[in-house]
Amino acid sequence: MNEAAKAPRLRLGVNIDHVATIRNARGGAHPDPVRAAQIVAAVGGDGITAHLREDRRHIRDADIERIMAATNLPLNLEMAATEEMLEIALRHKPHAACIVPERREERTTEGGLDAAGQHNHLAPIVTRLTDANIRVSLFIEPDARQIEAAIRLRAPIVEFHTGKYAHAEGAEREVELRRIADAAALAAKNGIEPHAGHGLTFDNVQPIAAIPQFAELNIGHYLIGEAIFIGLEESVRKMRALMDLAR
Ligand code: PXP
Repeated sequence: MNEAAKAPRLRLGVNIDHVATIRNARGGAHPDPVRAAQIVAAVGGDGITAHLREDRRHIRDADIERIMAATNLPLNLEMAATEEMLEIALRHKPHAACIVPERREERTTEGGLDAAGQHNHLAPIVTRLTDANIRVSLFIEPDARQIEAAIRLRAPIVEFHTGKYAHAEGAEREVELRRIADAAALAAKNGIEPHAGHGLTFDNVQPIAAIPQFAELNIGHYLIGEAIFIGLEESVRKMRALMDLAR
């Protein structure tokens, strides 16, 4: 059996934050991220991802319930490790909570969470989410030290930040890809389900999708951007097809 034959089905989680970003640019109700979630469900997406930021620049508090009610898809709520976000997650009980680092002034989540450096801060948050039956995912760099920290924190999932890979070119990209592949293997060997996301596009998704241990990719900005030109259905379908071809 080759590696690909052993690989689990690779889920596609669609991050719909940027539908809300466009809505918020005018302050009204259009375009509605709920409609995006329904389209993702209709074309076979496996999950919805959304990041409730401290400054609410994408989705807002009221969107969480609406998004969860709109489809049967699991919600992966991205959240900073703060008491405010923990309370919101515990109230809504999404399928999963992905803990991300957050700095108000950044344009996007620019790097992974320092799970190793923040063990004592993260440990009670991971425990409280887990006790509420929410699957905890830690958004970390593909780095052995961070994976070891995730093991100590008993996180069932890690999501590797693929931003460096996505922005690198040539030989540097190959180095980043190797790092991600090694990290996915190390996580899986230790019983942690590896996911990946950030900066993935039609052009760069396939080498990541081919890494056999990955169970889920979370992709947002590119899919929503591409939807402007080809529609959200086609954008999600095309990404799905590229991922399937890579396995
Ligand atoms: N996964 C996580 C944890 C994220 O924070 C983000 C957004 O930064 C994504 C996936 C999706 O990244 P992108 O929008 O670049 O596809």
